[in-house]
Amino acid sequence: MTKFKRILLKLSGESLMGNNNFGIDPNILEQYANEVKSVVDLGVEVAIVIGGGNIFRGVQGVQKGLADRAQADYMGMLATVINAMALQGALEKIGLSTRLQSAIKMEQICEPFIRRKAVRHLEKGRVVIFGAGTGNPYFTTDSAASLRAVEIEADVILKGTRVDGVYSADPEKDASATKFDNISFAEVYSKGLNIMDLTAITLCKENNLPILVFDMNKPGNLLKLMKGEAVGTLVSQ
Ligand code: GTP
Repeated sequence: MTKFKRILLKLSGESLMGNNNFGIDPNILEQYANEVKSVVDLGVEVAIVIGGGNIFRGVQGVQKGLADRAQADYMGMLATVINAMALQGALEKIGLSTRLQSAIKMEQICEPFIRRKAVRHLEKGRVVIFGAGTGNPYFTTDSAASLRAVEIEADVILKGTRVDGVYSADPEKDASATKFDNISFAEVYSKGLNIMDLTAITLCKENNLPILVFDMNKPGNLLKLMKGEAVGTLVSQ
């Protein structure tokens, strides 16, 4: 038995760049695919939401005057579909069965998001990737991850980051920062911790969906989490 039966894995688009400044590093993609396979092989149902920041960041698009906020957000949503397709390819290359569903209809390349179909795919052992965020501007891919996780009744959101959990301050900037093993939603608000945006956190809190923040770049971490080992930080009620 694994600790979680159905998970929603949130991957950052930016981490797909690896050591590059832009685009997709095939080695990172392959590493992530292997991590996913290790838990699918245990029978865990896996859904994935991936960001698009390695290709286009809506906020920066606005700052550079490229587009207004809504337009820039739609461009970012399309970027997530590119990443989702790359990830789908990497997962299928190592023998996993997958389905890609998009919040914005692109019927030539993927299925539209249909909640009941997504759940059925998961039950059949397929990895389901959700592309195009929520399909709406003014929402982040973290919010998309929370929304989809609640919709498919995932047991947890696994938020893959570059650090191994939630810290009292940014560990990359402040050497005195300490790591939390467990933290409540209320503390996340009161301490102003920057785990996900507040829309995403609130959706999780209101639906009693725990968030596990962990280092996705450390091979074996995802498997450890499924086996119930203490990895990362658990955010719960
Ligand atoms: P089951 O009926 O549960 O077996 O699911 P299924 O996904 O195998 O059935 P379906 O016949 O719906 O899909 C077969 C293939 O077509 C899968 O690879 C789907 O991802 C793909 N597919 C389904 N709907 C669409 C769509 O609207 N657009 C695109 N591009 N592919 C689709």
